[in-house]
Amino acid sequence: MFETLQAQKPDAILALVQMFKDDPRENKVDLGVGVYKDASGNTPVMRAIKAAEQKLWANETTKSYTALTGDPGFADAMVRLVLGNAVPRNTVSAAATPGGTGAVRQAFELIKMARPDARVFVSNPTWPNHLSILAYLGIETVPYRYFDNDTRGVAFDAMLEDLKTARKGDVVLLHGCCHNPTGANLTILQWQEVIAVLQQTGAVPMIDIAYQGFGDGLEADGAATRAIAAATTECLIAASCSKNFGIYRERTGIVMMIANGTEPKIAQGTLAFLNRQNFSFPPDHGARLVTMILNDEALRNDWMTEVEDMRLSMLGLREQLARELQQRSGSDRFGFIAQHRGMFSRLGTTPELVQKMREDFGIYLVGDSRMNIAGLNTQTVPILAEAIVKAGV
Ligand code: LMR
Repeated sequence: MFETLQAQKPDAILALVQMFKDDPRENKVDLGVGVYKDASGNTPVMRAIKAAEQKLWANETTKSYTALTGDPGFADAMVRLVLGNAVPRNTVSAAATPGGTGAVRQAFELIKMARPDARVFVSNPTWPNHLSILAYLGIETVPYRYFDNDTRGVAFDAMLEDLKTARKGDVVLLHGCCHNPTGANLTILQWQEVIAVLQQTGAVPMIDIAYQGFGDGLEADGAATRAIAAATTECLIAASCSKNFGIYRERTGIVMMIANGTEPKIAQGTLAFLNRQNFSFPPDHGARLVTMILNDEALRNDWMTEVEDMRLSMLGLREQLARELQQRSGSDRFGFIAQHRGMFSRLGTTPELVQKMREDFGIYLVGDSRMNIAGLNTQTVPILAEAIVKAGV
């Protein structure tokens, strides 16, 4: 039977990881997959995670199953982190998932289950795996304009115009903060205009928030999600702990559903059902660590300090890169790099120049010219700036 299988297109981001490993050059620079690296190029286990792991090791008495939607304490802590007090806790159903991708997948499954003919509006561009999973599930996608390749900012008028074509029963997928892959984000006033369009059209927002704390701070990065959740009657949220807790391989994420017209029991039961169909119980280790950190004042403060240090380090690298490019190119055209937020910035150049930077200078960017800023350090910034200018970007 398996002779029917066809070769799958490799994931463009993950394929780059292997290409980088296979490159023998010593001064190569990996700006591909979204992983935070410190000044020495390592992805450290965060201090609070280490401390929580130690406590857990000492105190955990069983590895028996939790619940199908994970430990309720994890949901409480994450709803508070992401949504603050924007909506009453009892209006949010939530399920732990294997990572943020698991949350995205479960949210798409919910959409398909509730409304098989729903269309999902996706920013152009968006994280490629959004499109891949949507296509796999047979959900129709409608791209909305997002990135202005001239300004490298958000093409906001065009975005609104496209979102206005959504209908009741469609879903609009939004990046809560730190847009992946562009790094270009909406202002809070622009978010208000998006909310007005959602209210006019009756489309349901789905927010993917995978980088809370990496843009303008933990609270500021949650502001759009909170405003949307408070202003709409139905909303889906997929949140990831991979980046802001640095627990990539633990696969820790959560899907939240606000469905004001639906019995909470039905909503929560549906999330449990979908988990059971896809993987049964969600992973617990990372979720438990996150819960311990968020519920312990000392651990939480230390975690917040470390997230803030990471954020400021990325901001510093952005500013350094913009400065170096300004000096080398004699123009301000790279100023957008310091304006972008989060891990990524889209350079806005051609696949040919991305390839040239890889082949001639050992700089690895994703083909759409997305750079992982967190993959840089103060020594590699000048190397990148030199390559960008010499390649003729
Ligand atoms: C990324 O966009 O690089 C990350 O979200 C990692 C991934 O799974 O693609």
